[in-house]
Amino acid sequence: MKTWQRWAGVRVRAALVASGSLALAIGAGSLLFVVFLQHSQVHDVDLSLTQQAQTLAAVVSQSGSEDIELPARLGTSSTQQVVGRGGRVLAASTDLQGHAPLTTEQLPLGRTRLRTTSLGPDSIYRMLALGAQDARGAPITIVVMQSLEPAEASRHEAIVLLAVGGPSLVLLVAVLTWWVAGRSLRPVEWMRRQVDGIDAVSLDTRVPLPAAEDEVWLLGGTLNRMLDRLESAASAQRQFVSDASHELRSPLAVLRTTVEVAVAHPHSTDWDATAGVLLEETQRVERLVADLLLLANADERGLQLRKGDVDLDDLLSAEADRLRNTTDLKVLVSVQAVRVRGDHDRLARVVRNLVDNAARHATSQVELSVASGPEGAVVEINDDGPGVPVEERDRIFERFVRLDGSRSRQQGGTGLGLAIVRQLVQAHDGTVSFVDASRVRLVLPQ
Ligand SMILES: Nc1ncnc2c1ncn2[C@@H]1O[C@H](COP(=O)(O)OP(=O)(O)OP(=O)(O)O)[C@@H](O)[C@H]1O
Ligand SMILES: [Mg+2]
Repeated sequence: MKTWQRWAGVRVRAALVASGSLALAIGAGSLLFVVFLQHSQVHDVDLSLTQQAQTLAAVVSQSGSEDIELPARLGTSSTQQVVGRGGRVLAASTDLQGHAPLTTEQLPLGRTRLRTTSLGPDSIYRMLALGAQDARGAPITIVVMQSLEPAEASRHEAIVLLAVGGPSLVLLVAVLTWWVAGRSLRPVEWMRRQVDGIDAVSLDTRVPLPAAEDEVWLLGGTLNRMLDRLESAASAQRQFVSDASHELRSPLAVLRTTVEVAVAHPHSTDWDATAGVLLEETQRVERLVADLLLLANADERGLQLRKGDVDLDDLLSAEADRLRNTTDLKVLVSVQAVRVRGDHDRLARVVRNLVDNAARHATSQVELSVASGPEGAVVEINDDGPGVPVEERDRIFERFVRLDGSRSRQQGGTGLGLAIVRQLVQAHDGTVSFVDASRVRLVLPQ
């Protein structure tokens, strides 16, 4: 699609709406104006006719109607007639000399009648008849007329002016709106081009923001924030893949070397020991792959929980027994009967990961406790080891973060344990954090 086609929609629509509404306003305004003009012109003519008629009536009432010399007294430009009883024309202005009476109606004294009439083809007049009386008191009718043509001519001029000016103005507004809309959309086009050019490797690009802090500026800000999020998500993804590959590499290398050595020296190989190494490393790979799968699933569509009643005190007691059987650490347990709704296997995994960490770092003792508090079920796991420095207490919940890298790697640690704990606890709407150097608190809603 060409650029102009893309913008044509918005630009043409803006121009059409602006010019259409202006055209409507101008059309209605012009119509009202012409009607009002005509009305006021006729009104002015009527006023002037009334004055003329009254002046003439005053003249006639003081002199005999036979003596009236209308042209001399009232000027040749006026069209006037004095009609006596029986429709006899007593006097007339020059243009009406010899003309038949304009009215035969005898109006009562002082009564007027107004109408629009024509004196010949194409000539429209306004006519006023006034009931009056001559010097002897005989009833007469004064008729005065005025052509409406000058008024019509000026009205015609106004109409022509409106007919030409109105559409020109509408056209001007249409073109201006089209142009302004185009200019306002230009930053959007810049942003579009920029975003169009962004791919997985250039996620650090940002769209240019216009100088004015308007809606387009806001849109640009939103796009840039979205790019920020995409960039950090992509970099986290890359980091995850690279860390995962790295973690997988070492057990695979051990497996390969062990097999190579065994195959090269089949007779001197202690096959039982070799099988032990292979089994241990395979289990490590298996555990790692399972952990990665769990985290990837959680990222993709959240964790599906098989919820039921879980007795946290039973979980802790089982872990305490396990520690007592597998280590020579002193295990202190303080449990109340506490039951929560949750996925038994996953909560067992949470407790096991935390207890494993404590056991791994403890010097001689591990404390396990569970109680019901106002905020829910509270599990605490504490050890007497070196603990986690304050500034690292958040970070260690991230994936592949190990503080004591080489030591915990030797012991099979991959740095995924706490990341999995956090994911599982969040799926249960709970929280987990280090409240002290080596005291982890797990809170689950009840
Ligand atoms: N109780 C603790 N005392 C001191 N350091 C701890 C404790 N618990 C965790 N850590 C530190 O936090 C890091 C991350 O723990 P995490 O459980 O995520 O990984 P890991 O134990 O190294 O490996 P994994 O649990 O996957 O086997 C550990 O490597 C360790 O440095
Ligand atoms: Mg761990």
